[in-house]
Amino acid sequence: MGTSGREDLRETLARATRIGVLTGAGISAESGVPTFRGEDGLWRGHPPEELATPEAFRRDPAFVWEFYDWRRTLLAGCRPNPAHRALAELERVKPGTTIITQNVDGLHQQAGSERVIELHGNIWRVRCLRGCPETIDRRAPLPRPLPPRCRCGALLRPAVVWFGETLPPRALAEADRVARESEVFLVIGTSGVVEPAASLARIAWSAGARVVEINPEPTPLSSIAHDVFREPASRVLTRLVGGLEAP
Ligand code: OAD
Repeated sequence: MGTSGREDLRETLARATRIGVLTGAGISAESGVPTFRGEDGLWRGHPPEELATPEAFRRDPAFVWEFYDWRRTLLAGCRPNPAHRALAELERVKPGTTIITQNVDGLHQQAGSERVIELHGNIWRVRCLRGCPETIDRRAPLPRPLPPRCRCGALLRPAVVWFGETLPPRALAEADRVARESEVFLVIGTSGVVEPAASLARIAWSAGARVVEINPEPTPLSSIAHDVFREPASRVLTRLVGGLEAP
């Protein structure tokens, strides 16, 4: 396994107590969720950078909500795959495991992971533009016509982070801490091009973590990875986590 001349990765994992895991859209691909930069990544011809922005929402909230409505409907039919489940199992045997995810689909939590830092929010939550307390709208169909409105009359928006917006400070600080403290840092299914998430792998690397990339395609983060697996996440994680025991 792996391409480094280091200790076997499973042995490092078996000894590690602090494990950081950065995930992106690729980990949910095997659940049927299209990635952003893959071949199904465009929605009606638009890349995410044109849909997931405050400007797009200001210009045409109904259009942006149609995009999120489409993703929510699609996600409602998706289930965690063996990669999500292997990470939940990893946390069970290694309670010092923390997932930092760029995904808004909630599939890690559905698989049973508890220590999950959501950098980009969660698509099942909506919030009022005027700042009423956040409405949890889990899986409920959106009220029509789009865009949905709060009881106060203001527009509701998805409680996700858009391009150009700052990340939730607490999530970011926590993610930064995890990256600095991890002995092993798994980078799974992310193209590594969206900041600040991409920097977390570099932070972990600089702090001495063994960085492991799991992605069928090379990324800008490949060059710092100590181990690279060019395979789908479910296959690698099932193999890596299977048989690990709590110390
Ligand atoms: P991307 O769509 O940019 O990248 C997905 C990555 O997953 C690619 O590198 C694929 O090669 C890889 N991949 C595909 N199938 C895989 C599999 N079965 N196992 C492992 N890897 C696989 O998605 P992200 O990196 O998550 O942000 O994108 C980051 C952010 O950009 C998203 O959170 C979103 C997006 O636009 C916002 O909306 C703000």
